[in-house]
Amino acid sequence: MSIPAQNKALFLEVKEGQFVVKSTETPRPGPGEILVKVEATALNPIDWNIQSFGIFIEKYPVVLGFDAAGTIAQVGDGVPSSSFAVGDRVVIQGRYDPAKKEAEGTFTEYFVLPSKFAAKIPASMSFDEGATIMSGIATSVFPLYNQDPTAASVNLTAPWLEGGRGKYAGKPFLVLGGAGSMGQYVIQFARLSGFSPIITTASLHNAPFLKSIGATHVLDRNLPSDQLIAEATKLAGGHFEVVYDAISTPDTLAVAYALTAQGGSLVIVTVAEGLNAKAKEDGKAMHMAHGQFMTAFNHDIGRMLLDALPALLESGDIKPNRTEILPGGLNAVPGGLQRLKNNQVSGVKLVVHPEDTE
Ligand SMILES: NC(=O)c1ccc[n+]([C@@H]2O[C@H](COP(=O)([O-])OP(=O)(O)OC[C@H]3O[C@@H](n4cnc5c(N)ncnc54)[C@H](OP(=O)(O)O)[C@@H]3O)[C@@H](O)[C@H]2O)c1
Repeated sequence: MSIPAQNKALFLEVKEGQFVVKSTETPRPGPGEILVKVEATALNPIDWNIQSFGIFIEKYPVVLGFDAAGTIAQVGDGVPSSSFAVGDRVVIQGRYDPAKKEAEGTFTEYFVLPSKFAAKIPASMSFDEGATIMSGIATSVFPLYNQDPTAASVNLTAPWLEGGRGKYAGKPFLVLGGAGSMGQYVIQFARLSGFSPIITTASLHNAPFLKSIGATHVLDRNLPSDQLIAEATKLAGGHFEVVYDAISTPDTLAVAYALTAQGGSLVIVTVAEGLNAKAKEDGKAMHMAHGQFMTAFNHDIGRMLLDALPALLESGDIKPNRTEILPGGLNAVPGGLQRLKNNQVSGVKLVVHPEDTE
């Protein structure tokens, strides 16, 4: 595979600035690394949050983008040939370092990463589908199943471990925001863990799809909070030992918190000011998701997940998000992020093909 000396990437040059496509030197893999030609990369809410509010990142210029799929273009020294070879189709995640407030993302044509953070995808899976996977599975799996004592986690037994599959049969599970990218993966892992009923909230036009991937009940997310709480309580026969709020805005947090049983666990995906102290008083455990494979406390669970992933995808146990492809390559990212910001995306993941960039 010939690798160009220069490739295109979408840069955010200054805090709260505008995105701009520029040519940049194509990176080369160091020892233990692979160079991936990015065939498809997906948009995430964090991308517009960083651009609009100047949060999370202090080092500019930065290339954002946290989900992609592509073809291995070059393999660095020391990567075992039994693991990866040029031409392999893989899924990858953009890098975010919360301590240094730096990122290196996948809104680019070529991306380098340590091979241990990539996973192969089945031949039957498109790059577009693949691009929806990594942050979604990480953000759902890590706070539910991570056993690292330094990680925020419910400490459940992962479904790929012995005794993990179906282990929680008969226990109810609540996912706020099941139609979101994260929510869809949470529903599917809860199903593999055996939880039942699996109750979620969404716009009702997404109900048939969410039931097809494992939700047993879909409540209209537009219902008033007290009605949502009453209906979920009735369906579950009480409050929930495990609640995953895959939206974590003040309105969903109020519902999620009320429905978490005393002694139970609530997973959230964004910072919930003030709620932690209250949770301690009330005897509820709160766990903030951190869906980065490259963060040290996620290494062991991440390795296990990446090892299990090809079989989970091949068998259809885990299905990727549905996608909408935006024409125009990297130039289409800003418009797509605006749609995410305006809540104009429902039940699909927006994806671009960097190669289509003018
Ligand atoms: N902590 C971490 O490591 C981490 C990692 C990744 C993402 N996140 C965060 O997780 C959140 C979700 O990300 P995502 O990628 O899943 O978002 P997404 O796919 O863009 O979410 C869109 C969906 O959210 C649903 N939604 C919006 N408001 C809702 C509400 N009040 N109740 C129920 N559903 C609602 C909509 O459902 P309907 O279409 O059915 O109306 C829509 O389909 C974001 O805040 C993101 O920043 C955190």
